[in-house]
Amino acid sequence: MRKAKLILDRDFEVGQVDKRVFGSFIEHLGRAVYSGIYEPGHPQADEEGFRKDVLELVKALQVPVIRYPGGNFVSGFNWEDSVGPRELRPRRLDLAWKTTEPNEVGLHEFASWAKKAESSVMYSVNLGTRGAADAQHVVEYANHPKGSYWSDLRRKNGAEEPFNIKLWCLGNEMDGPWQMCMKTAKEYARAAREAAKMMKWTDNSIELVACGSSSNWMPTFGDWEYTVLDECYEDIDYLSLHRYYGNPSNDTKEFLASSMDLDEFIRTVACICDSVQGKKHSKKKVHLSLDEWNVWYHSNQQDNELHRREPWGTALPLLEDIYNFEDALLVGLMLITILRNADRVKIACMAQLVNVIAPIMTRPGGGAWKQTIFWPLMQASLYGRGVSLMPRMDADKMDTKQHTDVPVADAAAVLNEDGSLTVFAVNRDLTQDTALSLDLRAFGAFSKVTHSVLHHDDVKAVNTEDDPDNVAPRDVPADLKENTIVLPAASWNVIRLIP
Ligand code: AHR
Repeated sequence: MRKAKLILDRDFEVGQVDKRVFGSFIEHLGRAVYSGIYEPGHPQADEEGFRKDVLELVKALQVPVIRYPGGNFVSGFNWEDSVGPRELRPRRLDLAWKTTEPNEVGLHEFASWAKKAESSVMYSVNLGTRGAADAQHVVEYANHPKGSYWSDLRRKNGAEEPFNIKLWCLGNEMDGPWQMCMKTAKEYARAAREAAKMMKWTDNSIELVACGSSSNWMPTFGDWEYTVLDECYEDIDYLSLHRYYGNPSNDTKEFLASSMDLDEFIRTVACICDSVQGKKHSKKKVHLSLDEWNVWYHSNQQDNELHRREPWGTALPLLEDIYNFEDALLVGLMLITILRNADRVKIACMAQLVNVIAPIMTRPGGGAWKQTIFWPLMQASLYGRGVSLMPRMDADKMDTKQHTDVPVADAAAVLNEDGSLTVFAVNRDLTQDTALSLDLRAFGAFSKVTHSVLHHDDVKAVNTEDDPDNVAPRDVPADLKENTIVLPAASWNVIRLIP
């Protein structure tokens, strides 16, 4: 049996959890939109063609904000193509994903879907092939009440009331050579600053996210952040970071240590933000938007073959990672990392939501089901709201090929709005249980303790349409003997202490 000790004190806070850290992402890519959220003719389609079965699953996740419409897609996108009468909307080649975009679903339709999903839109503008003027136009179209060219066009297109989109991304991954019209840090910084000014002059209630690095393995990482912030610091509100992990060498122990890299990435970007703040003698704090994160690698080879066989198709099954149990464990560890950094990470979007590297899968004409990663995301979203407490964790350590001193157990704790305390914990050890002793200092007694465990004996186990509950959490008796609770080997745990 492994050992870990977690000390929590209600006076030691990391900070308020911004509910937008449970955000998500829908890109015009693969089957995210077409045959994902939208499938007219499906038995579950509503009057607008949106799948009600998918909406129910999205609502179960309680997703407060959804990034849209890209991603790499946005860097070649003309937002004007996606509004107005459907029959007049152009079909365009999407060079990012080598597909054809029919523009059947656009800004109006997505805003309506997001409302049905009880969510809000985080809209990205194209700073690849386009620039500041186009970005200003779409803000005016979406948010200006009336009496100007773009706002009146929105009203003519059927939306009398503005969409009131509050959160906007200034482009996507502009540091990446795979991006249409990639930019150097200096080029991007200037473009982002001018777009930001014009967007805020149009609606000063909006918040803006500037592009940080596409990942911490980018050769320009660090320098990119500094250059962008040095130019835009006073004009933006958040800096983005993106991070995906994979397990191509089939080393589960190593894979589960990846969340330590995410933690370091977040802390490094926060330091760069603060150093620019210092240099500028600014009172303002720029916070972080981890607006793409997940596991992504299962579908890579399949996608290369698909592109060779069927270039320029529509709604091709791209990036359809089938997630297994070990992926759910890493997603749990990434969520723990996000909660523990609640003081700096204010927005986080799991990439993505439906079919494309997603917690929800659908079959055209068929069912919709939860992938393994759905579970930690849902439980964190439901029970992770409140104040993130500073966890003092002393756990047994292990080494992997690339990491030393990896704690066998990792945890985050949230003091929920209703006064209950939720501990999220992962036991990384694949063969041994961990005895987690909880030192709750001044918390006093709890009247009820519950313990939910996500575990499967096979780390490669998956959920399918025919077997959707193969990997699912179960409640176990909350056996808090002498303040110690057992985390089974290879498990995601949600322990709720109710006053
Ligand atoms: O989420 C899939 C892709 O990953 C996004 O389009 C892009 O921003 C990132 O590289």
